[in-house]
Amino acid sequence: MNKFYITTPLYYVNANPHIGHAYTNVICDCMARFKRLKGDSVFFLTGTDEHGEKIKKASDIAGLSPLDFVGKVVNNFKELWESLSISYDFFIRTTQDAHIDTVKKVIFKLNENGDIYKSKYNAFYCVPCETFFSESQVREALGCPLCRRPVEEIKEENYFFRLSKYEGWLKKYLKDNPGFIKPLERCNEVTGFLDNNELNDLCISRPKTRVSWGIDFPLDSGYVVYVWFDALINYISALGFPSGSNFKEFWPADFHFIGKDILRHHAVFWPIILRALGVEPPRTIFAHGWWKIGEEKMSKSRGNIVNPVELVKNIGADCVRYFLLREIPPGLDGNFSWKAIITRINSDLANDLGNLLYRSLNMVEKYFEGKIRPDSFEMPDVFKEPVYYLREKYSIFMEAVDFPSALDSIFKFISIMNKYIEDSKPWVMKKEGRLKELAAFLYSLLEGLRITAIYLNPFIPEASCNILSQLGLDIKESGMDKCSWAQYRVYAVKKTQPLFPRIEDE
Ligand code: MSP
Repeated sequence: MNKFYITTPLYYVNANPHIGHAYTNVICDCMARFKRLKGDSVFFLTGTDEHGEKIKKASDIAGLSPLDFVGKVVNNFKELWESLSISYDFFIRTTQDAHIDTVKKVIFKLNENGDIYKSKYNAFYCVPCETFFSESQVREALGCPLCRRPVEEIKEENYFFRLSKYEGWLKKYLKDNPGFIKPLERCNEVTGFLDNNELNDLCISRPKTRVSWGIDFPLDSGYVVYVWFDALINYISALGFPSGSNFKEFWPADFHFIGKDILRHHAVFWPIILRALGVEPPRTIFAHGWWKIGEEKMSKSRGNIVNPVELVKNIGADCVRYFLLREIPPGLDGNFSWKAIITRINSDLANDLGNLLYRSLNMVEKYFEGKIRPDSFEMPDVFKEPVYYLREKYSIFMEAVDFPSALDSIFKFISIMNKYIEDSKPWVMKKEGRLKELAAFLYSLLEGLRITAIYLNPFIPEASCNILSQLGLDIKESGMDKCSWAQYRVYAVKKTQPLFPRIEDE
C-alpha cells in the first residue's frame, strides 16, 4: 500500500477564515480523497498558526489573553472544515505542548550542529507577513516586497540560523529535482530569487521585550521563537518527529499545498531547516494562485473577503467545493463572482448531472418498479470513448492537480449519457414493448452513473454518496477498483429529492 502525506498551511488565527483559506483545504481534501479512493494510506494534516505579533495585536484589540483569543477563533476554522466535509486526519495547533517540545528539540539540535549564532541585527519587518527584509529589498519594493505595505525598521540582538551555509546545496537540489516546486512558474520564481540574491541567515528569535507571544526560545529566556520558524516545524511535529511511528511511516510529505505568497518560506527556509537536521525534504511543494475580487487579492486586511460559512449555508458544501475546484486551473488566479457560481452550478450540477440522475431513476421506477436485471450487460458504443478516456486520464489529471481537466472528462461522459437518452427514445421502446432493450438501456445509464459517482467522489463527496445510495449501492464498497463496467448486474433504485436544486439569482 502506498503512503500519502498531504498538508495545508497553518492558518493565522488573527481573524476568521475566508474563501481563500477554504480553497487550500478543499484542494487538499480532494487530493486526499482521491488517494484514499485508490487505496493509499493517507495522512492529511491541517491546523492553525497561533503565535506572533499579529495574533498578539488581534487579541489585545479583542480584550482577551492570546490563548483565550486563539481558542475562540480556532473553533471557527474547525467548524468551517466540518461544514465543507474536510476529511483531515489531524489538526495541529502551534500552541499544543507536543509541537512546542518539538520546536525546542529542533533548536537544540541545530545549535549542537553549530547552525545557530547570536548577532546584532538591523532589518525591516512586515507584521502582516511576519517577515524580515533587508534594506535593499525594501528600497526596491518601496515597502514590504510581499504585500507592499509599510515596514518597521528594527535594530536588535537576535539568534540566527545559518541559512546561507546551505545555499549551494539548495541550488543543486532544485536543479536535480525539477518537480520539487510546482507549477513551473513558481519553480522559476525561486531559482530566479536564489540566482539574483545572496541568501541571508534567518533571524529565528524575537526579544520578549518586543514580542511576548511565542514559544520560549530554548537557548535564552529573554527571547521567543520567530513565528515562521515555529510554524514550519508543524509538518514534522504533527507526525511525532523524530521517533514517532507516523513520522517513520509518512515522512517525507508528498505534497505541501500553499498559496504563492508563502512560497519562499516553504521552498527556501523549510528544505534548508530539514537539511540541517539531516531529514529528507518534502517531495513536492505546490503553490496555488489567489482568489481575487476584481483585480485585488481577497484578504482580511483589504476587507474584501467572501465569508465561506455564509456561502456553504446558502448553496451547500458540494457546490462551494465544485466551484472552487472547477473554476481555477492549477496555479492560476481566479475571479470570485456570484454570477460565475450560479452559471457553473446550474449548468453542470443542476442541469447536466442532477437531471441525468433524476431522469434515469424516474424511468427505472416508472417502467420497472425500481428494479433492473437486464439480459445484456454490454457497454453502449457511444460510452466507450469517454469511459476509456476516463480510465486512462482521470488518475493522470488528478496526480497533476489538474482538477478542471479531470472534471471536464467526467462531464463529457455525463453529457454523452444525456444525449444517449435523447437519441435512444426510451419512451418509444416502452410504447412498442421492447422491454429487454429498455432494461439494457436503463442498466447502462445506472452503470454510467455509478462510475461517475465514484470519479466525482473527491470533488463532491456528499452528492457522490447520495447518488450511490439512490442507486441502492453500498457506499463503503466504492473505490477506484470498482470503476470497471458491469461490476453490478442488478439494481434496485430509490429516487429521492433532486440532487442539486437550481440556484436562483437573488
Ligand atoms: N501562517 C502562515 C502559514 C504558515 S504554514 C507553516 C500564513 N497564514 S495565512 O492565514 O495568512 O495564509 C494561509 C494560506 O491562505 C496561504 O497559503 C495563503 O496563500 C492562503 N490565502 C490567503 N488569501 C488567499 C486568497 N485570496 N486566495 C487563495 N489563497 C489565499 O501565511
